[in-house]
Amino acid sequence: MKILGIESSCDETAASVVQDGRILLSNVINSQIDIHAVYGGVVPEVAARSHIEVINPVINQALTEANATWDDIDAIAVTYAPGLIGSLLVGTLAARTLAVLKNKPLYPIHHVEAHVYANFLNKSQPKFPILALIVSGGHCQLVLFRDHGDYELLGQTQDDAVGEAFDKVAKIIGLPYPGGPSIASAAMHGNPTAYHLPKAKLSGKYDFSFSGLKTAVLRAVQREVGVDFTFPSSGLAERLNDVQRHDFAASFQRIAIETLVDKTKKAFYDYSPNSVVIAGGVAANQELRRILSQQIPLPIEYAPMNLCTDNAAMVATLGYYYAQKKQPTSPFELEVIPSLSMTKTNW
Ligand code: KG4
Ligand code: ZN
Repeated sequence: MKILGIESSCDETAASVVQDGRILLSNVINSQIDIHAVYGGVVPEVAARSHIEVINPVINQALTEANATWDDIDAIAVTYAPGLIGSLLVGTLAARTLAVLKNKPLYPIHHVEAHVYANFLNKSQPKFPILALIVSGGHCQLVLFRDHGDYELLGQTQDDAVGEAFDKVAKIIGLPYPGGPSIASAAMHGNPTAYHLPKAKLSGKYDFSFSGLKTAVLRAVQREVGVDFTFPSSGLAERLNDVQRHDFAASFQRIAIETLVDKTKKAFYDYSPNSVVIAGGVAANQELRRILSQQIPLPIEYAPMNLCTDNAAMVATLGYYYAQKKQPTSPFELEVIPSLSMTKTNW
């Protein structure tokens, strides 16, 4: 079964063809990072317009690279939730139109759930129960998957997602957007214990919080450059030298990773899963992979870098498993849901 996946929930326009939920035939990703880097973050209106410009060429390229015609495609899977409303609309409208025109079944896919399915591609399959640490620019949660479509949300961030914290801290210390990769590379030159930053204590056993850490970095930078807390964050970066910048990157990254690892470890010993996977954009972080592997006595599973950040291969892969259990949705009725927690998507 060959599924065409379509993804446009944030700032990547992507299409991919996946066979039987595990063989990647094509994976086309048009990233808007350069467009949004100018603003230091994603501008929703700009993102939606850019999706409109490239969605058709991206889909055509995915078919060409897979050596597939429409006759070869058995179904279409598309991200319908969660994400930016204007961005989601472009992908879902393209998918709905193609489903009608080409007479293909249509499957609606939850973006955060799909991130986990990047781990089912091109390699040995994770074994249930799977403990998944899902860490991206919009999400930070620990989920226990008992089976396909049968999962339990164990904990989640109470404020910022961890990727969002990387992006915001990068802006404060003067590193380019997206902050995750730029903090990770700056941190390689820095001292991770140079600055003392606090770890959030939360009542929820597996919950996270990152906004206090971000504020702690802000206050520490203000102290370091000799200004008080009223000094605007936008003027701080130019007062830091490279040694301080690298030390802040490394100190922040250390605490952010320890926070993720502490909670994942707790959940691991409480639930004894057969596999542990990290998914989402922040799963691309090498230091997170290294520390987690040291702390957990199972091989940690993660996808290659280009399948950790947003892509449509993960959407097509989840679409395959979804199609085994569920009826397709009507292309005339599918609506986007910009904020839909994973707890509400049981299938
Ligand atoms: O999954 P993703 O592509 O988009 C969302 O669904 O949010 O994740 C993007 C996030 C951004 O916040 C980015 O800074 C972060 O993933 N990220 C990283 C790394 N690469 C991307 N964070 C830490 N280390 C990285 N190497
Ligand atoms: Zn994502």
